[in-house]
Amino acid sequence: MSFVHKKRIVLIYINKRMTNENPKEKELTTMEKIISLCKRRGFIFQGSEIYGGLAGTWDYGPLGVALKKNIENLWWKRFVTDREDMYGVDAAILMNPKVWKSSGHVDTFTDPLVEDLKTNKRYRADHLLEDAGIDVKGMSIEQMSAAIKENKILSPDKNPLGDVRKFQMMLKTHIGPVADDDSISYLRPETAGGMFVNFKNILDTFHPKLPFGMAQIGKAFRNEIAPRDFIFRVRELEQMEIEYFVNPIEWEGVFESFRKDMWSFITDDLGLRKENVHELEVADEDRAHYSKRTIDFEFDFPFGKKELYGLAYRTDFDLKSHAEGSSVDLSYFDEETKQRFVPHVIEPSFGVGRSVLAVLANAYAEDDLGGETRAFLKLSPKVAPFLVAVSPLLKNKPQLVEVAQSIYRDLKKRLGRAIFDDNGNVGKRYRRQDEIGTPFCVVVDFDTIGAPDSNPEFKDMVTVRHRDTGEQERVKIADLANYLEAKLK
Ligand code: GAP
Repeated sequence: MSFVHKKRIVLIYINKRMTNENPKEKELTTMEKIISLCKRRGFIFQGSEIYGGLAGTWDYGPLGVALKKNIENLWWKRFVTDREDMYGVDAAILMNPKVWKSSGHVDTFTDPLVEDLKTNKRYRADHLLEDAGIDVKGMSIEQMSAAIKENKILSPDKNPLGDVRKFQMMLKTHIGPVADDDSISYLRPETAGGMFVNFKNILDTFHPKLPFGMAQIGKAFRNEIAPRDFIFRVRELEQMEIEYFVNPIEWEGVFESFRKDMWSFITDDLGLRKENVHELEVADEDRAHYSKRTIDFEFDFPFGKKELYGLAYRTDFDLKSHAEGSSVDLSYFDEETKQRFVPHVIEPSFGVGRSVLAVLANAYAEDDLGGETRAFLKLSPKVAPFLVAVSPLLKNKPQLVEVAQSIYRDLKKRLGRAIFDDNGNVGKRYRRQDEIGTPFCVVVDFDTIGAPDSNPEFKDMVTVRHRDTGEQERVKIADLANYLEAKLK
């Protein structure tokens, strides 16, 4: 008997965001389902979970790491290795505190905080106002205080709120054995700082001509008042950032070119649906202190339209501030024009966690397959943790296992991301691989090995099962790697 199911497969694809249920309820359920899938299948766990967790921290498990690394590798390839004008760096997270004084972070990297006058719990004032349907764009601290009073907004515990204050978001630590004012340092709040302080090192060692960029992937830390929405707003985050140095006369062209490259990364590399990503021209009063122009790329997360990435024109703010703060010349001499000037900076900035979350939300789907409801991740092969899962129909039949393992080893060599899966029955394996987004499952059965009473037509062939449709077909072992490679393109 062939293992190919002949029954008709009914596929009703339900995009959760397109149904008519109560949107708020539906969004929460989708988010809960994604979080639960991430834990169940080993993508992402709560940080320090066995101790009750630590707010704003998350641990990536084997599949989460694989997904994250695939995203980071795509980013590095597109923005660093495929270009000739980029210099990769990996700077220290701990930096001389003067860096953050010069960059303006000590004075201005703050969030608006408001305190519940009874419980002393602290909240983001802008979030409470937004939750009450008030547009906070461009509001000063004083205006937020006034809006809370005018609209009689209470804390989530229904208590009165105090005045809105600025809250420093950099995480402070002490360096060395003595914890006094002189030993204070900060965990970097953005990876950018590590690039500005190395600008001169790159000039002196590689002698690049403008325009050129520096790129870095690494951790950053922010003492967020209200970490929330799973890995969307966390205290320990990862960024992929570029500081691209230009002659000021060419900033607009470079800005436009990165804008296009960011779209290509979003749609071609991550596979996000274009209609779920939106550009937002950030208003003057809402831009970071260093920026003269910022475009936010927003994504339709299950909990609303929120910032995914940012593209900023940082002018010469950073190099000038660091030159002043360090008394080191950070100007550039243009050999052709014989002009010396401080380069301006275009900064495309990408959150790694937000990329992971957007990819998961974009891929999460449910359908009815063979009369059963299933959840699956419609991940693009570019980011999927595994491209193919190979299994023997039964794990206690050595002949099946041997052939399956040999196919697995071969595919692992050819495709890299292959997994051998012999847990549970074959139906359960399909469900598991669907849930982790593996595009193909390959099954070795009795027909494959030409067992007595098997169908001779299917000898030396395996079943290949397609994740998105559940369809199955027989493919010759000899053609398998080429077949999968072509399908995965
Ligand atoms: N160097 C510029 C910069 O850091 P940002 O808008 O503050 O700008 C850039 O952050 C990106 O980093 C955001 O677009 C987002 O993807 C990510 N990000 C920022 N804060 C985050 C947080 N608390 N949790 C997760 N990701 C965050």
